Amino acid sequence: MSEKTNILMVCLGNICRSPLAEGLMRSKLNFTKFTVDSAGTSGGHKGQAPDKRSIAIANKNGLDISNQKSRKLLEEDFKNFDFLYVMDQSNYNDVTALASTEEEKKKVIKILDEVFPGENLDVPDPYYGGSQGFENIYRMLDRATDVIAQKIDNRIE
Ligand code: 4NP
Repeated sequence: MSEKTNILMVCLGNICRSPLAEGLMRSKLNFTKFTVDSAGTSGGHKGQAPDKRSIAIANKNGLDISNQKSRKLLEEDFKNFDFLYVMDQSNYNDVTALASTEEEKKKVIKILDEVFPGENLDVPDPYYGGSQGFENIYRMLDRATDVIAQKIDNRIE
């Protein structure tokens, strides 16, 4: 059997958006064929559990993300992961700046491009907003991970 496909979800702090994206993505893929992880470009919340509001919206939808721990994106992630899904343009700029080859840069994809190709949409940073923002990003990420799961399974099988 071939090696697993490795997917990394990336945002700024790795406490709000990418932990939700990780939990959702993992729940939709066969763990024998895929690994899913997440990281932040800043490292400012290193070692912390996801934001309470992300844990709450996940729980409300039957997903437990409370055991995740924030970590900073590493250059070696480009070697270890096949796809690096970023949440917004600022993440895209920060992550692609760390890529050392064109091939690595091609691994970086804005996650909503999978749902709305060519529209260049962002999953907005919900950190300074209220719970509505978390409902909103949950919906976006649920949709995006549905599309990715479908595409990726077709590509690999
Ligand atoms: P995330 O959200 O990138 O979705 O994890 C943020 C978390 C923390 C901060 C900003 C965004 N912060 O400025 O501390």
